[in-house]
Amino acid sequence: MSNVVVLGTQWGDEGKGKIVDALAQKRRVAAVVRYQGGNNAGHTVVVGGRKHAFHLLPSGMLYADKTCVIGSGVVLNPQVLCQEIQHLEAAVGDAHARLLISEKAQLIMPWHVLRDRIAGGVLGTTIRGIGPTYADAVDRRGIRWVDTRDKARFAQRVVEELAWNQYLIQAMLEFGRVPREQRAELQVTETLAEEKVIEGYWRWITEIREKPFVESGDVAVFLSRLQARGKGILFEGAQATLLDIVHGTYPFVTSSYPTLGGLYTGTGFRPRNLHVLGVAKAYTTRVGTGPFPTELSDDIGVQLRERGHEFGTTTGRPRRCGWLDLPILRYAAMVNGLDSLAVTKLDVLTGLDPLQIAVAYEMGGKRTETFPVHTQDLAQAQVVYETIPGWQEDITAATRFRELPKAARSYISRIEESTGVPVTMISVGPGRSQLIKRG
Ligand code: IMP
Repeated sequence: MSNVVVLGTQWGDEGKGKIVDALAQKRRVAAVVRYQGGNNAGHTVVVGGRKHAFHLLPSGMLYADKTCVIGSGVVLNPQVLCQEIQHLEAAVGDAHARLLISEKAQLIMPWHVLRDRIAGGVLGTTIRGIGPTYADAVDRRGIRWVDTRDKARFAQRVVEELAWNQYLIQAMLEFGRVPREQRAELQVTETLAEEKVIEGYWRWITEIREKPFVESGDVAVFLSRLQARGKGILFEGAQATLLDIVHGTYPFVTSSYPTLGGLYTGTGFRPRNLHVLGVAKAYTTRVGTGPFPTELSDDIGVQLRERGHEFGTTTGRPRRCGWLDLPILRYAAMVNGLDSLAVTKLDVLTGLDPLQIAVAYEMGGKRTETFPVHTQDLAQAQVVYETIPGWQEDITAATRFRELPKAARSYISRIEESTGVPVTMISVGPGRSQLIKRG
């Protein structure tokens, strides 16, 4: 297989960054491409005991021989990108990848963040301005990276959008009856000051554009040339299947397409010989609001959170934790046509005995094997669990499947059996070497 896409099968935070990092090591991979989302994502890669967290930069940035791509479906905050580039340079000097930014990428502007701060609370968004930026893109009033080629054009677009957003935000504050103290905290007037927005953004934009390793251009053209030269491309999904704006647990979703379809719209390119690799955590987590059938509100939930360090990379929020849900994985396998699975954080389950796995749901007295993705149905669904033995042995040093305890191997087999998808990678700790590869 010459091209691979890595995407999330649950509600995000499955550990995709580590899997992308492992695959990016291969020499034939010439590019690592992000195709959707923005700095709502958080990808952690641990190298030599040192943790690198990326929100916007693709996880392949630590490889000097690659080109990393910010695709057309990504929403880009120039301040965040600038800061991430500075951190990267401070950590590894110039031993990092090149960066290609799609000129079609939409910019996250201060009014988007304000609108998310005012209205995103109900959904528990990451308040990074993601939803409002995609909304403006669909409404055809977005500012794109191409609009930052010259300052006059950029300034003109900012002035136009500011005029509209001043109105809109005032209306949102009135309609939402936002109290006085909260309005003061939002600092609307200061945040939307014309000169400040234009000059502040222009500094970050210039700094990014002037970096010798950064290029701006047409991602589809770049990728098709790579393909014609027989190079491998790795696509990195952000968020996950159940957060997809269409196929996720709407409205408790993000505003982009983390499922396979997002790759095509987010790059404008169809890769040949594409292997679709889904990443599943050995249990389930969710941040933000919305139904979560296998959620554990007892001690086991707390244990999973603590052992698994289940606190958001982006917001620091504690993640809700629960048992593995096989109907979810089957749904993700269907929506994305998964070819294989990587199971992460298997080590976090060590010592929990017995383990529970959701195998089906009961709705209106009837058993169903299908994940009820609609919020109304999900809220009524009763989970049918299967109890299986756990294991006590430390598995963090295992490098081969056969070194895992029998119960851990059975756990993996149960996932394969239920989804019909082979598990080809198993992560047993945060380090780069703590990864079992099979097949
Ligand atoms: P938004 O993407 O900031 O608009 O947030 C919408 C929903 O998606 C919220 O429930 C967030 O917690 C969730 N979300 C967004 N990005 C991530 C992620 O990278 N991991 C997990 N949840 C996420």
